Amino acid sequence: MKFRARLLTGALAALLGPATAGAYPGGTGSYQTDAAPFCAGCHSSRDASALVGAGERAEKEVAERKHLSLVLAGKKGYAALSEADRKTLADQIRALDAASAVEVIAPASVKRGQTFEVAVKVTGGAGPVVGVALVDLDHRWYARPISSAGWSVVMPPKITGSDGQPAQQWLEKRPEAAGRNLSYVNIPGIASNSQTGQWDSAQVVFTLRAPEQAGPHPLAAAYFYGTEKSTLLGYTTNAVGWKEVRGGTSGHSGRVLFSPVRQIQVQ
Ligand code: HEC
Repeated sequence: MKFRARLLTGALAALLGPATAGAYPGGTGSYQTDAAPFCAGCHSSRDASALVGAGERAEKEVAERKHLSLVLAGKKGYAALSEADRKTLADQIRALDAASAVEVIAPASVKRGQTFEVAVKVTGGAGPVVGVALVDLDHRWYARPISSAGWSVVMPPKITGSDGQPAQQWLEKRPEAAGRNLSYVNIPGIASNSQTGQWDSAQVVFTLRAPEQAGPHPLAAAYFYGTEKSTLLGYTTNAVGWKEVRGGTSGHSGRVLFSPVRQIQVQ
């Protein structure tokens, strides 16, 4: 029995392994914990300010250089596309990037220990999921989960999908006993289309408790999204029907985008 169970686990791991463990197209299916953007090393940035102070490296992280230059040059998985298709793919991805945004709606000031809501609204992202984290800085290497700035997440975040309905299914996979009051979530059910210019949007409402210490406390959102699954040119479909992005699971078609940092006054 034990042996059979192990065999089954092995077969499952072999089946799921490449898609779930190798990287995160499909989002962080298994990792359900507070996250900081350093984990998304494969992702590209929209501009160099997300790595301010990193010198030349900051420029190398920008999508035009880290991702779209490979698309246009026909490197790796992009070699299968004609030059005209590669240009179309690059333009479709640029349009998705231009449409993808993250906004934080929070009060300007709160009382010490007060419980209040922070809404994070996101637009765009290829899907099938996008990710949102509350952090203390708009920097890929230095941002920390929001608890480092004294804010506590006191309830499971309320996730609303692109259809306006609750989208808690990812969050509810985490054992309740472990606590679902996370500062990072996946939003399922996203399907933007960069061929037709149709952009999904979704929202996460976090319930926070303010720190006991008065003064300004920082708060920002990090937005994690993919680009290539928004267009037929951006992926192939494998034998089991999964979409495989042209850039590969270790490619650079993911993005990390930050909202501006808010300084909330704790009184
Ligand atoms: C090995 C490379 C790699 C690492 C490391 C990585 N990602 Fe990604 N991620 C990708 C790629 C590639 C995509 C884009 C898929 C696309 O273009 O459609 C992506 C997309 C995503 C998406 C959107 C889902 C999707 O399929 O488009 C989320 C959310 C995400 N990543 C979160 C994270 C987080 C959080 C971390 C750190 C725990 C992380 N990623 C680390 C490669 C990576």
